[in-house]
Amino acid sequence: MNWEETTRQKMLHLKLPTDPRWVDIAQMQIEDILVDHAYCEQKAASSCISLIVRFNDLEYLVDTLTPIVAEEWGHFERVMEQLKKRGMKFGRQRKDEYVTRLTDFVKKGGSRMDQLTEHLLLNALIEARSCERFKLLSKNIQDEDLQKFYYELMISEAGHYVTFIEMARMYQDPEKVNKRWQEWLTFEAEVLKSMELRGDRMH
Ligand SMILES: [Fe+2]
Ligand SMILES: [Fe+2]
Repeated sequence: MNWEETTRQKMLHLKLPTDPRWVDIAQMQIEDILVDHAYCEQKAASSCISLIVRFNDLEYLVDTLTPIVAEEWGHFERVMEQLKKRGMKFGRQRKDEYVTRLTDFVKKGGSRMDQLTEHLLLNALIEARSCERFKLLSKNIQDEDLQKFYYELMISEAGHYVTFIEMARMYQDPEKVNKRWQEWLTFEAEVLKSMELRGDRMH
């Protein structure tokens, strides 16, 4: 099975595809998209660092997330290069409604492993949606350099997505994880549906 097939199956988890008009408006605001994207990579790296600090006793988690921090930071550097070579500026972080609303869905309380499940599923979901958006950019954006760039990042984020889901099922009853994952997917689709379509945000 080639990469496209396996990933398509895994990406089918998302319950709502991105509005196809998104790429058209995004490529007209590519500076905003790249700046927003840089912060997405920063947040991905930061969230893995937080998990490592909080769950320092989980050896597999620490060993698995440590190289992912480096990868996410590598992505951040690559986005910065894309900005620089276009003479674009790295601006301030904008409000990230998508991530804020998803973060609010994290269930408070429960056991420590319940908390871990919530955070791993949150990360998995953001990876899945990012992967879907990178795929749209890689296929539809006119800039060939960015097509290639987003294709490469899509593969990397797909790998992270699988890692987070599998790790959640490793540290918690997989049935419980699968049930909760469905709730996350349903919620994410609702969030996306209710958000205004804008071309200056990755999500
Ligand atoms: Fe990344
Ligand atoms: Fe990632």
